[in-house]
Amino acid sequence: MDVTQLLADLHAAAPLVGPSLLAADFGNLESEIGRLEEAGAEVLHLDIMDGHFVPNLSFGLPVVEAIRRLTRLPLDVHLMLSEPARYARRFRQAGAEVITFHIEAVPQPVALLEEIRRSGAATGLTLNPSTPVSALEEYLDLCDLVLVMSVMPGFGGQTFQPAALDKLRRLRELAGSSLLLSVDGGVDHQTIGACTEAGADLLVVGTGLFGGDDYGRRLAELTGLARAVGDVQI
Ligand code: DX5
Ligand code: ZN
Repeated sequence: MDVTQLLADLHAAAPLVGPSLLAADFGNLESEIGRLEEAGAEVLHLDIMDGHFVPNLSFGLPVVEAIRRLTRLPLDVHLMLSEPARYARRFRQAGAEVITFHIEAVPQPVALLEEIRRSGAATGLTLNPSTPVSALEEYLDLCDLVLVMSVMPGFGGQTFQPAALDKLRRLRELAGSSLLLSVDGGVDHQTIGACTEAGADLLVVGTGLFGGDDYGRRLAELTGLARAVGDVQI
């Protein structure tokens, strides 16, 4: 998929929910992805953990390749790796269309952002709850998106940290409407509206979406709440 078209599509569809497969049943990925497609998902979020940058392991290249064979949906790959530069190109080859990595892991991210863009993927930086927006401010021009973590990365099912909302607002102020803003961690029925109110375009949802019987209904509810911005308070 052409990256310019993909970014235009994501902007046009925003705000939209990006299901995080971390919360899926890994024994039934084919059926989980099929159910997400039927539910109307427009992008899939894949969490890659190395047990070093974060204190957990998830899955790696062979699983991303397998997911690529199962779906045509764009894959938004979130690298929670100490050395993303060693692997970014291989995730691209495995089928990633969007690749984000952490500013804490790569404080000088220009070369890697440029490399990922040259590879034909969209790219951007992500920041932990303890990292201020100022850490990545000077690199915003090289980012197609910024992923704001609203929990410490590493595990699904954590409680949303409202400080992420100020970061989203600040990023929107700094970057204007062309930057895609994503938020990840603890996004659910209760918090999703505040995220879009603060400027988020792509709402990554794991445990808030999976596990139930009807992904279509849940996805529609979450999307409805995301779009019903108004008097949301956390
Ligand atoms: C956390 C991951 C998230 C995670 C979100 O390290 O980056 O994508 O799957 O899960 P929930 O929605 O359960 O907080
Ligand atoms: Zn993630």
